[in-house]
Amino acid sequence: MKSQDVRKQFLDFFQSKGHLIVPSAPIVLKDDPTLMFNNSGMAQFKEYFLGNATPKSNRIADTQKCLRVSGKHNDLEDVGFDTYHHTMFEMLGNWSFGDYFKKEALPFAWEFLTEVLKLDKDRLYVSVFEGNEEENVPFDQEAFDIWKQFVPEDHIILGNKKDNFWEMGDQGPCGPCSEIHIDLRTNEERAAVSGASLVNADHPQVVEIWNNVFMEFNRKADGSLEKLPAQHVDTGMGFERLCMAIQNVTSNYDTDVFTPLIAKVEEITGLKYTSNEIKNISEEQDKTNIAIRVIVDHVRAVAFAIADGQLPSNTGAGYVIRRILRRAIRYGFTFLDTKEPFIYKLVAVLADQMGEFFPEIKSQQNLVTNVIREEEASFLRTLDQGLQLLENVISETKGKEVAGAKAFELYDTFGFPKDLTALILRERGLALDEAGFDVAMQEQKARSRAASEVSTEDWSVLVPGNVETFVGYDKTEADVKITRIRKVDSKKDGVLYQIVVDKSPFYPEGGGQVGDKGTLVSANETIQIIDTKKENNLILLLAKQLPENVNASFVAKVNTDLRAASAKNHSATHLMHLALRTVLGTHVEQKGSLVTPNNLRFDFSHFAKVTDEELKQVEDFVNARIQEQLPLIERRDIPFAQAVAEGAMALFGEKYGDSVRAIKFGDSMELCGGIHVNNTAEIWSFKIVSEGAVAAGIRRIEAITSDAVKKFYATQEELLSEIKISLKNPQDALKAVVALQDDNAKLKKQLESLLKDKAKNMKGDLAKEIQEINGIQFLAKQVDLNPEGAKDLAYELGTLGNNMFLVLATAEEGKPMLSCYISKELVADKNLNAGLVVRELGKFIQGGGGGQPFFATAGGKKAEGIPEALVKAKDFLK
Ligand code: ALA
Repeated sequence: MKSQDVRKQFLDFFQSKGHLIVPSAPIVLKDDPTLMFNNSGMAQFKEYFLGNATPKSNRIADTQKCLRVSGKHNDLEDVGFDTYHHTMFEMLGNWSFGDYFKKEALPFAWEFLTEVLKLDKDRLYVSVFEGNEEENVPFDQEAFDIWKQFVPEDHIILGNKKDNFWEMGDQGPCGPCSEIHIDLRTNEERAAVSGASLVNADHPQVVEIWNNVFMEFNRKADGSLEKLPAQHVDTGMGFERLCMAIQNVTSNYDTDVFTPLIAKVEEITGLKYTSNEIKNISEEQDKTNIAIRVIVDHVRAVAFAIADGQLPSNTGAGYVIRRILRRAIRYGFTFLDTKEPFIYKLVAVLADQMGEFFPEIKSQQNLVTNVIREEEASFLRTLDQGLQLLENVISETKGKEVAGAKAFELYDTFGFPKDLTALILRERGLALDEAGFDVAMQEQKARSRAASEVSTEDWSVLVPGNVETFVGYDKTEADVKITRIRKVDSKKDGVLYQIVVDKSPFYPEGGGQVGDKGTLVSANETIQIIDTKKENNLILLLAKQLPENVNASFVAKVNTDLRAASAKNHSATHLMHLALRTVLGTHVEQKGSLVTPNNLRFDFSHFAKVTDEELKQVEDFVNARIQEQLPLIERRDIPFAQAVAEGAMALFGEKYGDSVRAIKFGDSMELCGGIHVNNTAEIWSFKIVSEGAVAAGIRRIEAITSDAVKKFYATQEELLSEIKISLKNPQDALKAVVALQDDNAKLKKQLESLLKDKAKNMKGDLAKEIQEINGIQFLAKQVDLNPEGAKDLAYELGTLGNNMFLVLATAEEGKPMLSCYISKELVADKNLNAGLVVRELGKFIQGGGGGQPFFATAGGKKAEGIPEALVKAKDFLK
């Protein structure tokens, strides 16, 4: 059975059991500060378990793209070395939200595996939670009794908290679980050693395929468990492992999920991958296999993350994605000898394979390919540079061991991987001081941990069972009660209180728009709300202090000036989105946006610089829509499918519900939860202030509206008038500037020729100062010229003989510069190198440089170091 069919069978089965089938949520999470990526099927349903929202059906099933590369579940370093862990994998899951429980869930799983897929019952083992006194959770007798109806008792294994109590992260919904494992060993192997003894023992052919979690608890910030309001079922089955079992192979990489990708790597590199069935392979082949597994695994994670809107970057989730890709690049670089970008070529294969079920990978194929290619090229440059730096380190090393701190510097500052350093050192007969490296790494980690420390208290619930709502589309003021409070203490922001109210007029940051600010006012006091955010469907008002009486009645008042300014920028963003698609083409897709009261920022896919003319057209388009005074048409609850059919823009990487909010101004229609103007006339005017690149194939435009545009023109006018004054108020300022430039060019020419003359004159004087040392004509001197003049002078002096060694220093406008000239003959005979000379002497002027063996220059920051550099120049003659 093909992998495509396995997926379909699963979804069909649960549909037949009354489950609603939903699409996978994006791989990158937006609304949950405790998780960076979707690491399990249940992550997108967390708010239902916590009771913060109600699901549209109490039975749901799907396949979810998951990434286990950070936080509690992190498999990254295992990937490649074994045959069954992945960074990205699909998790098939079925859920009951307060509906069925163990009695139905376990028989569903058994029926699907043994009757639909017809897996061999003898090869299946199940596990049950043995109980834990400390947590006060008993042995799961109920699950045990249910399983006894289907499997012999020696196929039921009792598991401890580590294996059989599932938690998503340090906090959140959790509960005991029951896993299903499969034994894929040969009959002989099974006869010799029982499968039961290998369950949860890291055996590559006795693996967990399905986990059934019985969500009953919430793990609180203080580590204690509280009962959830209802009992739920959360299951997750490893799709790739299931395919392995069904396709009768012993490695996930031998299933059709991976074989097309592997074939492509083989085609590109000319190397062969050996399937897991082939035993006794050479050490060399083993390394090739590992590298290929790393690459075909990682490309999936990176490609889907980018398709879902997460570009590689230097911080947060983007940094994790960059590190995954870099891990793949360096395995290729080291073990497959790939020195050119190639991983991007796998995207087409992936799109062919998965595009039908996950359309985002097809529609974003161009972008994903370009971003990966660009990242590859840039990291290969880094590796090259790192190799050179490592050479320097090696040449400076006395003895057999390279200091760990040095290797760490390479790793930390240049992204040069430690294992590559170690490998190269080994090849050169040197060793890496691993302990020193680890110490440096620990110190660095401790520093960044200290900087990002956050402690979060549990919620104090003031009004139990309350359902909090957002009323901010209709009101900017509301009478409210505080329902929950939580204290958060972080190094970065200090102590903040997160306040939840029953009906919030405050808009929480989202869809690019910043959160509202404002006040909570009671009869006796006023509390400043400095920001508003959203977390698992709760709206959090952030305040630096709590009201003295938290049970009082408050009026929540949004700062309407700031909100109105944001609204103008948000509506202008929609108009600009349409303008870009009209002017540049419909390949333009939103890749990120930021809307603040001051300005707007919009990132979008486009493969060339946007020309000035195009920018002008975009500006004109938006301003025309402003002048047309288009009214806002807001539809709050229309079915997603209908909105899209009517032409609304939906974004990849956003999670949309069944019913959505659509915002329409004329032809612009977007799915959006943000705050907008009532009529485009309110925007008054729109002005683009910058355009540039953010990543391969992604451009960024920044723009302003309304008062900011007025201010912009006022500043321009002021600038112009200051320019006029400094030009002595000419009739025509432009003409005056052009005349000034002409004069300047003429003077420059004259100066250059004067300097040339000066250099010639100096040649005679300086020739007299040349000394002969050890048969070499030597001169080291500071001259009063510009660097260009010094170069001419050095070349002139160089003509005086074939054994010249000259170092000339200049300090034009206080900027020190060293030039070194060495006759070609000396370079050859005496093994002298101008590049090395300036690099060494450059240290005295706090700078560096390079060039060719016969001529090189170094610039620096410390002109006072010139005399010492000139004295030290002589040392090269020894
Ligand atoms: N949430 C459970 C898991 O990820 C099903 O294993």
